[in-house]
Amino acid sequence: MTDLVDRVRRGFADAYGGVPDLIARAPGRVNLIGEHTDYNDGFVLPAAISGQTLVAARRIAGRRIEVVATDFQGERDSFLLDKEMAHSPDPHWADYVRGMVIAMERTGLRISGAQLAVAGDVPRGAGLSSSASLTVAIGLALGRLSKLSIDPTALARMGQAAETDFVGTRIGIMDQLVSARGLAGHALLIDCRSLACTPVPIPPDAAILIVHSGIERGLVDGAYNARRTQCEAASRALGVPALRDADMKMLEAARALMDDITFRRARHVITENARTLSAADALSRGDLQTLGQLMAASHASMRDDFEITLPPIDQLVALLQDAIAEDGGARMTGGGFGGAVVAVLSKRRLEAAQAAVLAVYRTPDGGLPLMLVETASDGASLLA
Ligand code: GLA
Repeated sequence: MTDLVDRVRRGFADAYGGVPDLIARAPGRVNLIGEHTDYNDGFVLPAAISGQTLVAARRIAGRRIEVVATDFQGERDSFLLDKEMAHSPDPHWADYVRGMVIAMERTGLRISGAQLAVAGDVPRGAGLSSSASLTVAIGLALGRLSKLSIDPTALARMGQAAETDFVGTRIGIMDQLVSARGLAGHALLIDCRSLACTPVPIPPDAAILIVHSGIERGLVDGAYNARRTQCEAASRALGVPALRDADMKMLEAARALMDDITFRRARHVITENARTLSAADALSRGDLQTLGQLMAASHASMRDDFEITLPPIDQLVALLQDAIAEDGGARMTGGGFGGAVVAVLSKRRLEAAQAAVLAVYRTPDGGLPLMLVETASDGASLLA
């Protein structure tokens, strides 16, 4: 953390001279269960992680925003708030900054000019929401600089709009909401329709282990958006506002109204919503065995029905499940097509689980995978 603070301060001083008025932080997240349910108005159970993005910010006169990315060789971007803004042909960090500023101004907020420096340590391409941590930290920094008080849920909605409206991935609200509202030591059971967040304590004898497969979630926006379109087709066929409103009985009755792929996509979402509610209950009771069974069923559903896992990730999950046995569980986390696997397990299994991964699993370039042991963190805040 202090390294990251030093880095962002140095990046700021090198780019603009002097010191920032404030530093905002926002964490990445790991989703314990409830995948691709958020944009179906369903339930998710993520926790904020220690990896985070820091934004050092200073107010300047006028309506220009300048930003330097210390993690991208000091690349810079600069734009005027009152000009129509373009976005780059390929995904680029600056698009998230521009997208967030546009989303904020679209809600009627008036942002002041600013100099910004960004530094983060959320692994990128790991399905741990480095982009949500960036948009939320930018929003918090600019809001405070502009003397606006923005409620965390509103901030999360703006972060979501930055990605859906400007970057072009039609994501749900989970990542931004837990980045803005996370609570140390807790996962958040989020109802993605009402946006109610219920903190669920992580049992003191449990650990969260994240293993990055080393397969970067690259240009997967097309596949992500396609899943969302299939879910919308299923809810139309079922005659419900969202898949949140359907159950398995309704889906079975409507089987003839949709093709097999649409049916399986809907089955994943409907069963995943039920699993997420049961998992929140199991976690709150410290029942790691039940939680583990639900995580295993979630992974199988993502693999077979939603088709967003990859064979090396299935292998990683299977070897973690073997090492954990009945003391917890493992599954892929995040949007899919690469990224990380999450395990929730009894602390006494932690060493054996890590050893099992190191003994067998190699990243695509033959290296050892990145492993993080997490205790859930607080959501976005200003550093004192
Ligand atoms: C990405 C999106 C989220 C959510 C997950 C899948 O992280 O940003 O909104 O849909 O994928 O659960």
